[in-house]
Amino acid sequence: MNKELFDLVHRPRRLRQSAGFRDLLREHRLTPDDLIYPIFVTAQTNTKNAIETMPGIYQWSLDRINEEIDDALDAGINRLILFGIPSEKDPVGSDAINDDGIIQKALRQLKGDYPELMLITDVCMCEYTDHGHCGILHGQQVDNDQTLGYLQRQAISHAEAGADMVAPSGMMDGMVGAIRDGLDVNDFSHIPIMSYAVKYSSAYYGPFRDAAESAPRFGDRKSYQMDPANRREALREAELDIEEGADILMIKPALAYLDIISLIRESTTLPIACYNVSGEYSMIKAAAEKGWINGDDVMMESLLSMKRAGADIILTYFAKEAARLLK
Ligand code: PBG
Ligand code: ZN
Repeated sequence: MNKELFDLVHRPRRLRQSAGFRDLLREHRLTPDDLIYPIFVTAQTNTKNAIETMPGIYQWSLDRINEEIDDALDAGINRLILFGIPSEKDPVGSDAINDDGIIQKALRQLKGDYPELMLITDVCMCEYTDHGHCGILHGQQVDNDQTLGYLQRQAISHAEAGADMVAPSGMMDGMVGAIRDGLDVNDFSHIPIMSYAVKYSSAYYGPFRDAAESAPRFGDRKSYQMDPANRREALREAELDIEEGADILMIKPALAYLDIISLIRESTTLPIACYNVSGEYSMIKAAAEKGWINGDDVMMESLLSMKRAGADIILTYFAKEAARLLK
């Protein structure tokens, strides 16, 4: 007998030899309970408007949105994050804080029709302002502190209309503290804040801006969203949101920022969410349509990588498809 073979004691392949072993030894799993599905709600009527850059994703009007909710529930998804496309935009994003704004109406309707839904709202101004920036403008600049009051009112208004959780995404300094304060003094101390704590200024948001009609009319978001080159700064953003009272920290985008998910996972005991953003979705869809990759397999592998990196929660346009494959 060859001596070298006897010395080969360590054989990781022993535990990979059959599905039985592989299932037993699997370290991370994806379940439908991990997933939150984004839905775009438009103030128009009789609308199911396909987003060309996001195959399978639509803008839904309230008189038709039940088609989409029924399909999500059928797939096993009952957690949604809502984005609104109002009928009118103005410099201060009035629809965002209006009792009869598109999201407020959607919340009341969906809570009434589907008590089993968990409804999360995106708290930001870019879908509601005519200039498309995430806050109130002072000249060409977003005025951080003036914006905080608006975000506070938007969050309170969402809670009043029935939101189960609010998710501020505008990367304003102090937004979590301001919203926590506003909710607490209005008897909403039980409503959690899932903060987009670590949000990078990313080209991967392109298709979303078509879907939400929220592209900035001038300039970019680099003065408030983070520089993709920065890692240490992610820790600082996370720390500040924890101090201000965030309940869940989100990292966004996900796939190109798995190192950041892992970094934040190691640095806090708070639950971690990540946003598998529009561009990540569209790239997989496009390559799959061309037959260049197996879309289902790449989707599942990508979502699993986010869990492996440390995310507890994944916001993803793939939610329905992934949940169906997990059945
Ligand atoms: C709004 C917001 C954006 C996304 C979620 N909330 C876009 C942006 O910052 O321009 C991106 C989501 C996606 O790309 O899927 N602040
Ligand atoms: Zn915004």
